Amino acid sequence: MSLVALTDVVKRFGETVAVDSATFSIDRGEVVGFLGPNGAGKTTTMRLLTQYLEPDGGTISIDGLSIEDHPVELRRRIGYLPETNPLYRDMLAGEYITFMGRLRGMGASEIRARTDDVVAQTGIEAVYYRPINQLSKGYRQRVGLAQAILSQPEILILDEPTEGLDPNQRVEIRSLIRDVGTDRTVLLSTHVMQEVRKTCSRVVIINEGRIVADGSVDALVAGHGGARVIVELDAPADAAMEAMGDLPSVARADTLETDAGGRSRFAVEGASGEDPRPDISRLAAARGWPLWELHLAQASLEDLFHRLTAESAGPADETAEEPGREPPDAPSDEAPVEATEEGDG
Ligand SMILES: Nc1ncnc2c1ncn2[C@@H]1O[C@H](COP(=O)(O)OP(=O)(O)OP(=O)(O)O)[C@@H](O)[C@H]1O
Ligand SMILES: [Mg+2]
Repeated sequence: MSLVALTDVVKRFGETVAVDSATFSIDRGEVVGFLGPNGAGKTTTMRLLTQYLEPDGGTISIDGLSIEDHPVELRRRIGYLPETNPLYRDMLAGEYITFMGRLRGMGASEIRARTDDVVAQTGIEAVYYRPINQLSKGYRQRVGLAQAILSQPEILILDEPTEGLDPNQRVEIRSLIRDVGTDRTVLLSTHVMQEVRKTCSRVVIINEGRIVADGSVDALVAGHGGARVIVELDAPADAAMEAMGDLPSVARADTLETDAGGRSRFAVEGASGEDPRPDISRLAAARGWPLWELHLAQASLEDLFHRLTAESAGPADETAEEPGREPPDAPSDEAPVEATEEGDG
């Protein structure tokens, strides 16, 4: 059974259907990338999962329990790093973590018992007594991650955790996400395709509120016309091209170039839904052709993303470009995490 399941979930803001009958699920232990252009509905979906917003239709369940029927219990089982991590700017990092723990319904002794752990795990010892507004964006994200894992949630919802970070910070935060994601189930939204490849076992693509793709990166790429693969072999070009073309997992093979020494590069397209790399490596071994290179063409996931989301580039982008778009007023009992943005921090 899936740990997280959304079924026909709908969320409207006036005329805007931000989430339009979305159905997907996440199995225990998966790290799922949530991809979509600006305004696609990623943040809204995450706010529904974290009970900041209530759906207008459909059901969300965690471990078989519906969020509607078990709001308090399920809140503690989900850690959330919001997109515009509010992080009370004047608070000290340590105060903020304690504050967020209380908000989740943790007792003082439980918070104390957990704080050392999360501070060590996220590497924020040095900034623990510093005001959040003095921290670099990378450290703010670390503090945000620390509060997200305080209640030892089995599920982590991370909304664009590496947005706005420099390349070094990105690498650090990614590696930290891998650490805190171990033995957890993670849903991570991003615009960054590289991130999905590096971090996620599966990807869900949303566009204009609708789920338009769902699967492993390789399977998705392969499912849309087959995986595109670059092959370099020491082999007679025609024979190799023909042999690869005959593989059941291959739709077509073309020679890109042949050098004087007899080594050739080929572009191979998988049959629909297939990644032909295992077959090609077996073929090369069987024929005794030294295999110098065999890789998935990098552009594929980007291609797929653009193909699936291209039609909507207009209006969805405009709405999403608005700076400082504010979340709606949510009843405070529905908003364990972000309702505090309006608070007295
Ligand atoms: N509080 C709100 N009030 C009105 N409309 C909203 C609100 N929040 C989101 N929307 C609209 O819902 C749609 C989905 O927005 P959402 O923030 O979920 O997208 P997103 O995928 O997170 O985008 P981004 O990549 O820019 O963060 C957009 O059209 C947005 O303008
Ligand atoms: Mg967003």
